[in-house]
Amino acid sequence: MEELKKEFEEALKRISNQEELKQLKAAFVGKKGKITALFKKLKELSDDEKKEFGKRINELKEFVEEKVKEKQDELFRKAKLESLQKEAIDITLPGRTPFGGGIHPITKTIMEIEDIFRSMGFSVEVGPEIELDLFNFELLNIPKEHPARDMQDTFYINDNVVLRTHTSPTQIRVMKREKPPVMFISPGRVYRRDSDLTHSPMFHQVEGLLVDRNVRFSDLKGVLIEFLRKFFGDVPVRFRPSYFPFTEPSAEVDIGCVICGGKGCRVCSYTGYLEVLGCGMVHPNVLKNVGYDTDRFNGFAFGLGVERFAMLKYGIDNIRLFFENDIRFLEQFSFAKGRVL
Ligand code: PHE
Repeated sequence: MEELKKEFEEALKRISNQEELKQLKAAFVGKKGKITALFKKLKELSDDEKKEFGKRINELKEFVEEKVKEKQDELFRKAKLESLQKEAIDITLPGRTPFGGGIHPITKTIMEIEDIFRSMGFSVEVGPEIELDLFNFELLNIPKEHPARDMQDTFYINDNVVLRTHTSPTQIRVMKREKPPVMFISPGRVYRRDSDLTHSPMFHQVEGLLVDRNVRFSDLKGVLIEFLRKFFGDVPVRFRPSYFPFTEPSAEVDIGCVICGGKGCRVCSYTGYLEVLGCGMVHPNVLKNVGYDTDRFNGFAFGLGVERFAMLKYGIDNIRLFFENDIRFLEQFSFAKGRVL
């Protein structure tokens, strides 16, 4: 029995898979196994011997079965580990970067402008892009033969209908609809026959109008300075006398050049200033044209070019980039690049 036990232990050491283990088990404790054979020899012994040897054979059998079980578990764990290692997914392969959506820089600029004016109490209105000559020109104090019509090369649809050349006709539409006071801005597309590095035949403006009692030029200055500082940061702002048929007096507004900081560069034509807005006190003729009582009400208006604001804020030197929609350009404003609203 001692020899048998040693033989089994030696053989067990060489076992490397479940099949070999099965055969080894059969060779010792199977029907024709060496240990099973010992039981058959018991009947040749005396009763006392039977008892003694029977016990020892049983112990050996239990020992073998116990060892086989242990080995079985060990082999199973080894096989499992191997298969896990073999089937492991290589997570070190970089994934594909998802496209991050974003907001178009023009839309984003309009949203920023809207937020600032909303915070000051202005509402937001919209008007049509196909507009009556009457609203785009006539009622804004620009009669048919007025030379100011040449300032804005107009796309005509017919004698009476144009693609609006500015957002100012929205002033007329809102005032015709609402009694004073009115206080709103109006963003939207406008069209002019013009195309170069800084001009596009379609571009965006934001109009602003405030009509109330006793509106002063200083109110206009206060609102625009506040707006420009919120949009561009702490920049110098200056007002220059100018002319628009629908405002009197009129002014153009400049900010200190955001490119050179006022030292003078190509972008500001070495003046240190950039023109960013047109504005003025609403011309009494315009108020009369919409039926407002000019003895009781007056106001101010302003208009700005969104593309120009976006170009200056984001350092973009070609207006066409906004409309070509090259993904490499737009991507720079996407959420994925961390440049969110
Ligand atoms: N409509 C003018 C333009 O397009 C801008 C403007 C608006 C000026 C309102 C004064 C008042 O140039």
